[in-house]
Order: sequence, then structure tokens, then C-alpha cells
Amino acid sequence: MKKKFPKNFYWGGATAANQLEGAWNLDGKGPSIADYMTAGDHQNPRKISRELDENVYYPNHEAIDHYHYYKEDIKLFAEMGFKMYRMSIAWTRILPNGCDAKPNQKGLGFYDKIFAELKKYNIEPLVTIYHNDLPYHLVNRNHGWASRECIADYMHLCKILFSRYKNIVKYWIPFNEINALTVPLGNWNHGGIIHKDTIYFEQQQDEPSLRFQALHNQLVANAMAVKLGKEINPDFQFGSMICHITVYPSTCYPDDMLLAQKEDQFRNCFCGDVLHKGYYPYYAKKYFEDNAITLDVNDTDLKILTEGLCDFYSFSYYMTICKSANPKATQTSGNIMGGAKNPYLETSDWGWQIDPKGLRWTLNHVYDRYNVPIMITENGLGAKDSLEEGKIHDEYRISYIREHILQMKEAINDGVNLIGYMPWGCIDLVSCSTGEMEKRYGFIYVDKNNKGEGLLSRIRKDSFYWYQQVIATNGEKV
Ligand code: BG6
Repeated sequence: MKKKFPKNFYWGGATAANQLEGAWNLDGKGPSIADYMTAGDHQNPRKISRELDENVYYPNHEAIDHYHYYKEDIKLFAEMGFKMYRMSIAWTRILPNGCDAKPNQKGLGFYDKIFAELKKYNIEPLVTIYHNDLPYHLVNRNHGWASRECIADYMHLCKILFSRYKNIVKYWIPFNEINALTVPLGNWNHGGIIHKDTIYFEQQQDEPSLRFQALHNQLVANAMAVKLGKEINPDFQFGSMICHITVYPSTCYPDDMLLAQKEDQFRNCFCGDVLHKGYYPYYAKKYFEDNAITLDVNDTDLKILTEGLCDFYSFSYYMTICKSANPKATQTSGNIMGGAKNPYLETSDWGWQIDPKGLRWTLNHVYDRYNVPIMITENGLGAKDSLEEGKIHDEYRISYIREHILQMKEAINDGVNLIGYMPWGCIDLVSCSTGEMEKRYGFIYVDKNNKGEGLLSRIRKDSFYWYQQVIATNGEKV
């Protein structure tokens, strides 16, 4: 008989503070790097402003105003039956400059209310500590995360959060998609690094040594956070969080095979290996040599990496890519990076290849490598929705998620210890890559368009009722 979803499986959804809270400068909150990004779309990349311009629209400033709508939003999550909710804490709501000695009480008060609301509905919080929102003040200091000082500031934040929420939050993710710094796109919104010639988010000037120094600092900070957290409460559970870009060779031509292997090692496995094994893998050292990347790594860092291993592996999964040795291979886009097109797969309107079976492959791949519980902390279809007589018939979204859930079930049957599923943007929010509102992922529609117009009202989509039934039947009725 086929295995079913485990009884205590965590069904839920995921969001990030900078993409939904809004209230970017209210109640003592300071600006973060996300507040400096303009709106864009699939054709026109977002720009990174050096100074805020009052004539320019910054979509993250108001986002979907969850800051004021949180009660209504969490009630809707509860109505869907969520068992867990992945959210992030805005660093600048707690420490407006990122390095203030004392926390902003109003900022903490906001998260106290969020956690109380979740508890009311028996929803377990899963908290990302850093999700693309470095305090802007720390960018100006010295290239954001490339500066070692950032580790101490981040640890100060962690200490505040771990002590205050010691008996309230059990599941933590120190860094969202930590491997995003393996690609130049990660410079700004993951590392807070900006060079003088950078204008567009998608075409950033890059200094690989600086970028990898920022990544090293984050890997060290991740391990330190785990170590500190376990001292404060040994029951805390920490997850790695990898943007998993599953890579296939375009053909069985051995050069394609080797390229795909290298890409998988470096983009996907490298950070997971450090966070779960406690040391830099051999292929990372070779990559650094080949690319003339020099890093400031000391013995204390290397020791810390072995002392703060993550308890569970988590990842985002939206699409897969191919690797081809043929320079003329047709390319397609994707999350944080694109690749060669797969002729067997369809794409979303944003060119991301839809590949449910790739999720089963990925779950087996990572479980085999790390042998720890696995959580899918992001997955979903960014699509345009149309409101027809007050309803949104999003069969395309249901179909995407259904096919992925069916493959999760196959992976569980294969023996993978999958413990949770948090579809991304369970309520419509601002797209990270394009800044659009109309690249929607949610089960809940938010009345707001790409220009920032709308009433912000919340409307249940068809997928809302469908997901409600999936959860009620523990994944049996999809
Ligand atoms: C992940 C990020 O990379 O992908 C999210 O963690 C992001 O912040 C999500 O929103 C989907 O990407 P996008 O660009 O469609 O918003």
C-alpha cells in the first residue's frame, strides 16, 4: 500500500516581511535594502535607488499592508487550515539601523501580536530571521554582509529574538536562500552589496571575492545562530534554506553531464554541505581557485561551522533548468538564475519551467545527501489572475500545486522524510524579482495592481477552497 502524508504533516504557507508588511517607516521602523528597489516587470528590470525619490513608486513601502491587516490575514490562513506559517521578521522593525544597542519596543510589540494571533488558531510559526532585508544603514557602512561587523549585528538581533520568543517559536530559519550569493544577482538583496556601476537589480556589477566573503560571513552567522539558539532553548529546531535550482544535463553528451554536475554542486549543494556537514566541500575550494576568489577565513570560523549544524533541510522549488555545452542552446529564465531550455516542459508567463516530477527527484536527491527531515519552504506558480464577478478561477494554480503535491507523495512513498509544505506567497504579495503585484502566487487575492492602486481588500480564490480541502484530508483529496 502506498504511504500517506504523515499525521502531523505541516501544511501551511510562506511569506516574507519586506514583501507583505508595508508600514516601511511606521512605529520606528528603519529602511531596509528592499525599500530602495523600484517597481519593474518581466521586460523592465527593477532599479536600485541610491537615494529615495519621492516621485518614484517603491512597491515594498506599502506592500499589502499586512501590518494593519494581519488579523484578517491570519484568520484566513486559519480558515484554510494552516498548521504552520512561515514568516520573516523585519530586522529594521527591531533595530532600525541594524546595529542599535536597544530594540524598538513597538517593533517587538508587532511580532508579539502576530505570534499571539497564530497561537489563537494553533498555527505553529516558522520564522526566517533574514529574508532579503538588510538594514540600509549597514549597506553604507561597508558593503553590507561583506563586512564581518555584520555578523555581530545579526547575532545581536538573534539574541533579542531567541530570548524574547524562547517559549513561543520553535522553528527557525537563519537565512532565506543562503545560496543566492553564489550568483551575481544575490549581491544586492541577499548581501547588501552595491558597486558604483550597478543600476539594475538584474545586471549588477560583481566582485566575486566580495560576494563570496559575504556568503562566508552568512554561513558563519548561520552556525553561530544555531549554536546560540540551542544554548537558549535546546528544543529549538533550525533549518537551512536553499534556493534549489535542480539541474539536468541537456543531453547525455558527457560534457553536458559534467556541466550539470558542476552546476548542481556549486549552486545547490555547496551551502547545504556547509550547513549540514560543517565544512567547505572540496569542489568549493577548486571553484575559488579557478575563479581567483580569495576569502578571509580563519580557524575560529572553521570551528564554528562544525558547531552549529542545521536540524532540518529546507528549500524553495519553483522550476528546473538544463545545462548544455552547446553555446547556441536556447535559454530560459528562472528563479535567481536561468539555464538551457527543456523541450519537455512548459513555462509560466515569466519563463520559469514547470516541473513537478523534478520535485520528486530533488526530494530524493537532498534526502539521500543529508538524511535529515526535509521541509519545502517555498513552491508555487506566479501568474496573472482576473477578477470575474468577485471571483478568481485559478485552475492553473490549482493544477500546478496539485501536481507538485502528488510528487511529494511519491517521494514520501520512496522513503523521504518530508515534514512540511509551505507554498510561497499564500496571500498575494510583491514579487521579489520584478516588484510586480500582478505576479500572484496567493490562495488569497489582494486588490492592488502594479501601480499601487487598489482597495487592498482580500478575496478567497478558487485555490483557497481547494487547498482547504487538501489540508482537511491531509493530502488525500487533491
Ligand atoms: C524566492 C524568494 O526566491 O522566490 C522570495 O525567497 C520570492 O522572496 C520568491 O518572492 C518568488 O520569486 P518572485 O521573483 O516571483 O517573487
